[in-house]
Amino acid sequence: NKVVLAFSGGLDTSVILKWLQDTYQCEVVTFTADIGQGEEVEPARAKAQQLGVNEIYIEDLREEFVRDFVFPMFRANAIYEGEYLLGTSIARPLIAKRQIEIAQETGADAVSHGATGKGNDQVRFELGYYALQPEIQIIAPWREWDLTSREKLLKYAESHRIPVEMKKKEGSPYSMDANLLHISYEGRGLENPAVEPEESMWRWSVSPENAPDTAEYVEIEFKCGDAVALNGNLMTPAQVLTTLNQLGGKHGIGRLDLVENRYVGMKSRGCYETPGGTILLRAHRAVESITMDREVAHLKDELMPRYAALIYNGYWWSPERKTLQALIDGTQQDVNGWVKLKLYKGNVIVVGRGSRTHSLFDENVATFEDDAGAYNQADAAGFIRLNALRLRIAAKIK
Ligand code: ARG
Ligand code: SIN
Repeated sequence: NKVVLAFSGGLDTSVILKWLQDTYQCEVVTFTADIGQGEEVEPARAKAQQLGVNEIYIEDLREEFVRDFVFPMFRANAIYEGEYLLGTSIARPLIAKRQIEIAQETGADAVSHGATGKGNDQVRFELGYYALQPEIQIIAPWREWDLTSREKLLKYAESHRIPVEMKKKEGSPYSMDANLLHISYEGRGLENPAVEPEESMWRWSVSPENAPDTAEYVEIEFKCGDAVALNGNLMTPAQVLTTLNQLGGKHGIGRLDLVENRYVGMKSRGCYETPGGTILLRAHRAVESITMDREVAHLKDELMPRYAALIYNGYWWSPERKTLQALIDGTQQDVNGWVKLKLYKGNVIVVGRGSRTHSLFDENVATFEDDAGAYNQADAAGFIRLNALRLRIAAKIK
């Protein structure tokens, strides 16, 4: 009888809204969140009102998004298939959570989203819904209706007097998704993975060729694995990412053109801009490099692809993700320090790092000069001989 729709205010979800009302004769509650996609969310109110919606939720979730989703993921240094920083993947669990909460507040028994039946997003939304509300009804219009092409969608919009603005995303020749961590482009003009995307596709960054000829330095301070200050200025998580996005975009940092494996089984070509995230990942690893025990760091690196796949495949709310997160968060207590980076034409170059309180770097031990007995080089002979023992025994019988 009542359904909570994740509503962007764009063409697709406007058609979905109308379609839900007509097909299910149900009341629709809309939920629109600002997670840093860089578009006004307020216009969604007028659009929803126009379509007869009474309960309209519009929320600024930028801080929660970065603090409770992006930052925990970055503590793991998560990267999917060696390259993808999971910008879309990490936003879905938050949307799912708020939709379920709103369903509970408004007495709705169903939720709906605008993801297609061919992608990852449907899985991420719906695993989230079920994990948080086991009896929830889910309506995925893209899997049900016969509006199988752009044209049919536009026709439906026209015949139901849904306003279509061709100037924004609707007019873009790509399927796009954006939040504070990234902007993504898929489909249409990108469907041939052999062909380079047009320069005009990229919205957040200049090309490295067009980036400034002078490098820019930035210093990032970390506390328990999270970035807390830039160039000495304390900032909230969303402020950190917003500022790093501007800096990175200006220097052509964080572009990616990737063929990835979707959870549903197909390969898909996507382009991404993750300027701030690309800087943050480098910076975080640099602070870990000086504060984290070797075996802990290596263990973390072994678990990372598992963790990244969990996020990619939509298992944020699963017990295995929470278990891994507890382990990862435990390792971050010692990750306190600073890193100095140079940004230059698409590159993020670490030029210095340190920690007043947690550095494991011992200059006396590491020095090539006289270490005054801090390290006994003679010890190394026995260390190597014992490690070589099995190699020598095996070599002897050959
Ligand atoms: N391929 C990326 C992922 O699975 C991006 C998906 C973009 N989603 C979208 N609705 N355009 O995370
Ligand atoms: C979609 O299918 O809605 C977007 C792509 C994806 O979810 O992977």
